[in-house]
Amino acid sequence: MVKEPSISTMVLNFENKFDPYEAMSTPLYQTATFKQPSATENGPYDYTRSGNPTRDALESLLPKLDKADRAFCLTSGMAALAAVSHLVGTGDEIVAGDDLYGGTDRLLSKTIPKKGIVVKRVNTSDLDEVASAIGPRTKLVWLETPTNPRQQISDIRV
Ligand SMILES: Cc1ncc(COP(=O)(O)O)c(C=O)c1O
Repeated sequence: MVKEPSISTMVLNFENKFDPYEAMSTPLYQTATFKQPSATENGPYDYTRSGNPTRDALESLLPKLDKADRAFCLTSGMAALAAVSHLVGTGDEIVAGDDLYGGTDRLLSKTIPKKGIVVKRVNTSDLDEVASAIGPRTKLVWLETPTNPRQQISDIRV
């Protein structure tokens, strides 16, 4: 029987095929742009905002740790949350926790409703409350656990 590697083993054995020197820690590519092979050919990276080897290494490792299909890394928490909010369209609904980080709270209460998206706020530590708020137009369940600031726990086990 093959034992599943521990999280520390997975973190140590990160993907480093992109590094010709096989560094033992992930190299940090602190560059905005990459030289291209020629004026008419594209290399694997051109502009760090679109892609960067360090970010690719992180985005390939994170889903392995979380047993997820994919990870997307953004430059801040609010950038990630704003990107996620764009997955929901006008007329759709978001079921969101009633105790969330202040920036998230303002995004959900002031900005997102202006796009015609309905945001229902519930206590996400109460699974019945979450289930009864979910309807046919719900596209996203948005929660924190522990919540910020009240440190309530939402049961996210599947
Ligand atoms: C729960 C939670 N969500 C979002 C954010 C926002 O993250 P950032 O400051 O990286 O935009 C924070 C920041 O502390 C947070 O605690």
